[in-house]
Amino acid sequence: MITIINAQLTDIPVIQEIAKRTWPITFQNILSESQIDYMLEMMYSPQALTEQMQEKNHVFLLAKEMENSVGYISYQLEYTPGNTKIHKIYVLPNTQGKGIGKLLIDEVLKIAKQKKQSSLTLNVNRDNRAIQFYKHLDFKIVGEENIPIGNGFLMEDYIMEKAL
Ligand SMILES: CC(C)(COP(=O)(O)OP(=O)(O)OC[C@H]1O[C@@H](n2cnc3c(N)ncnc32)[C@H](O)[C@@H]1OP(=O)(O)O)[C@@H](O)C(=O)NCCC(=O)NCCS
Repeated sequence: MITIINAQLTDIPVIQEIAKRTWPITFQNILSESQIDYMLEMMYSPQALTEQMQEKNHVFLLAKEMENSVGYISYQLEYTPGNTKIHKIYVLPNTQGKGIGKLLIDEVLKIAKQKKQSSLTLNVNRDNRAIQFYKHLDFKIVGEENIPIGNGFLMEDYIMEKAL
């Protein structure tokens, strides 16, 4: 059985561990190893995660299977007026495809609706097969953007949106 809990600052090492185990496999054929390392440091250092939780209003949820954390999602209400942004969603490779990603999205969907949000948006790399997962959940591609993140690296993303 999977339970979903709110992550706290003390869960930062758990989030880092899931990211470290999931990112290299997810992006092995999409990004260079040096870009993966750079992005993990930029987005998942203790300082970066603390700032996201404490100053940027990112809420992190953890999916737990018994005592083990197997995935996380982070979201931000009112990213733009009436819109909630999903910043991150990662499920450990050996537990993907079992409905955990959908459970995490559904939880954010429920909270966003309670908070009278009218849409969910997210960015996804244009070569990531997660696009199919999002399409399956009724997200539509509404745009694309190339975001320079320093060191000559780019994030080459689609913007996807789901109306609530
Ligand atoms: C993308 C991700 C979060 C999805 O979570 P998951 O637990 O593997 O997906 P689920 O098992 O909940 O799948 C939900 C539904 O989407 C479908 N689906 C999942 N991945 C799919 C894919 N690649 N193509 C088509 N359909 C897919 C499933 O068949 C399932 O359908 P159903 O509800 O009709 O049975 C997870 O696979 C993951 O962490 N991937 C690597 C990291 C990543 O890319 N994150 C997104 C960064 S933007």
